[in-house]
Amino acid sequence: MIKVMFVCLGNICRSPMAEFILKDIVKKQGLEQKFYIRSSATSNEEIGNDIYYKAHDKLLQKGIPVTKRKAVKLIAGDYKNFDYIIGMEKSNIINIQRIVGEDTYNKIYRLLDFSNNPRDIADPWYTGNFEITFNDIFEGCNGFLKYLKDMKKIF
Ligand code: 4NP
Repeated sequence: MIKVMFVCLGNICRSPMAEFILKDIVKKQGLEQKFYIRSSATSNEEIGNDIYYKAHDKLLQKGIPVTKRKAVKLIAGDYKNFDYIIGMEKSNIINIQRIVGEDTYNKIYRLLDFSNNPRDIADPWYTGNFEITFNDIFEGCNGFLKYLKDMKKIF
């Protein structure tokens, strides 16, 4: 079982999008049982809130199933319970490290560092461009899955 925690600032746009996108990709590849996928925030702002409607609508437009959820905050104990803690941009990585402490087991990554073009994923809460966000996250999730396959973590 590969345990993946996606993390962004609010847990209402990017990290839940990544959670639903990766769940859909692994399901389509018959790998669903091999994964445990969750998402969380580094800030308190949106705790308890469902995915933002523009992120929700973008996922539905792309044919990705979305279930009801409540934003949660990343906690220090998540570090031992997850294998990969994946942020969307550099500032997320800094905030993740503040919450979980030193990355002793190299579990903390930035999503698009798994792509051929490493970069941050801009916050659509501020950019308003959920198409770019979707494409970036889709690219990152596929890059992550390719990494796992290349590293022989899944077959
Ligand atoms: P996210 O976007 O980090 O992609 O979920 C945000 C949503 C809300 C806020 C910040 C970022 N906020 O400050 O309320």
